[in-house]
Amino acid sequence: MPTPQPSTTGAKSADWVLLKQLIRVLALLFLPFSGGALAQTATLAEANRMFDMAERLEPGLFFPPSPTQQIIEFDNEWYLRVYDGSHTMAAVNINGTGPYFAGDVYVLGSAFGDSPVYINKLVPLLSELESVRVSVSKTLELPDTPFDYANLSLPSYFVTNTRGQNLPTSINGTDNTPADNPITNDGATLGRVLFYDTELSANGTISCASCHQQDKGFSDDAVLSAGFLGGKTARHSMTLINARFYQRGRFFWDERAATLEEQVLMPFQDPVEMGMTLEHVISRVSAQPFYAALFEKAFGSPDINADRIAKALAQFVRSIVSYASKYDAGRALSPTPGANFSNFTAQENLGKNLFFQTIPNGGGACFGCHTTEAFISANPGTQNNGLDAVSITDLGAGAIFSNSIFVGRFKTSSLRNVELTAPYMHDGRFATLEEVVEHYNSGIQNHPTLSPALQDNNGNPVRLNLTETEKAALVAFLKTLTDPSVATEEKWSNPFRAL
Ligand code: HEC
Ligand code: HEC
Repeated sequence: MPTPQPSTTGAKSADWVLLKQLIRVLALLFLPFSGGALAQTATLAEANRMFDMAERLEPGLFFPPSPTQQIIEFDNEWYLRVYDGSHTMAAVNINGTGPYFAGDVYVLGSAFGDSPVYINKLVPLLSELESVRVSVSKTLELPDTPFDYANLSLPSYFVTNTRGQNLPTSINGTDNTPADNPITNDGATLGRVLFYDTELSANGTISCASCHQQDKGFSDDAVLSAGFLGGKTARHSMTLINARFYQRGRFFWDERAATLEEQVLMPFQDPVEMGMTLEHVISRVSAQPFYAALFEKAFGSPDINADRIAKALAQFVRSIVSYASKYDAGRALSPTPGANFSNFTAQENLGKNLFFQTIPNGGGACFGCHTTEAFISANPGTQNNGLDAVSITDLGAGAIFSNSIFVGRFKTSSLRNVELTAPYMHDGRFATLEEVVEHYNSGIQNHPTLSPALQDNNGNPVRLNLTETEKAALVAFLKTLTDPSVATEEKWSNPFRAL
């Protein structure tokens, strides 16, 4: 029986104490201010509205207006300025959409507006103003006996290479679980709670699951995902399915995170995604009464720290493995992935054949890069699949590894549940699987780093020249990789219930 447990969404005052301290620290810095035009004051009505609002949120902090706190207008933007009479110490952009502070904070160097320095640290504190508005009551429901995350009962074909295939079919050697962080049922349970906890974003509005949704293949349906203040991520969200079976163990489209343990702490600190600092995450976790017991079970003591948060989240993500799709039902009955599956339609078998066959044999060579039964890329990691002839805005792995051979190359995540993860590619450019297949059929661009697998004998982008029947068959095959258990099983679902 699940035991409902109370959850706190409060604990704002500690943050305010911090904010006040921070403003005091900033006041000590006395950054020189030279922009004379800045000292313009707001209209009386506007200033009153702002101060009235601030007063309601935190009596005494911003009210009454004082020489050290002013509402000012600069370059058509409104700012709350901390001012000592001759120097501007900090200014908060309060233009936002609603009558609340948007939370963008700048420290002013020389002149105001002159390449302002972004202080990430202030954002979460100030966006507390938002959470006054959005906090919701919820309870946590966990089973008395934890779900099984640790024991993967992988089918035998996952762990046995099929003879006669020129590429590895088994996932052997691809598991990136580090020796010091094996999955335990209690560890992944804690990870699940952290993954779904909206309190861990600055204004309490989003969690990891906002952009990694179970019923959408742990991706989301937005081209670019919305962060806690509505800002957009730079790339399309990635599926988390089978993230575990990636030998290189690097994460993100451009592989900028060296390990999953490193990756899972980054969204918290991203100013667009969740707008937090690690200290702040720890204090939000500590403020919720149910976490101490969950940490105790997972790690043997109730201590809460960033290393443990990272480990638990990584365990939860690694537990998301798919092996119960229509493809698996057929594969279990078949000696090789290439042979016809008895549970497949003729169309699905045709599509499968195109997926596994090499191009000279009339196939699409898809398996060359979407490898193994986990349908994830094996070494050598990032690839250029010919989306663009030149990389202009997004250099992909080329911006991370300082070598031009990586420009325009991106990570291939698992194709399992790909039917649910639309739109597709790092920039979400394709709305449907039909568009993806048409890209491989006729749209490959001749980029300098285009994968040799997608070039013909003369070094030109390959043209598959598939018929309409073949294209539809390839799409039908991709849909056999849909695994309803990953999309619905409770152990990967939201443990919080709104009250
Ligand atoms: C606002 C949306 C958003 C939130 C919130 C978010 N993510 Fe992501 N996630 C993304 C996007 C977008 C990417 C791809 C970014 C890139 O590669 O530049 C991504 C990539 C990832 C990856 C890389 C997968 C791979 O195969 O390389 C992992 C793992 C991940 N996120 C886990 C998490 C976790 C854990 C959290 C919560 C702590 C989280 N995400 C919160 C949008 C989000
Ligand atoms: C040279 C390696 C390579 C080959 C061959 C290849 N792919 Fe890909 N595929 C990739 C890479 C790399 C990505 C991610 C690219 C990006 O987002 O920039 C990708 C992305 C995809 C996606 C989108 C996944 C997502 O989550 O957005 C689908 C679907 C896909 N490929 C299907 C296929 C099919 C079908 C074939 C065969 C016709 C194929 N691929 C052949 C490397 C390859």
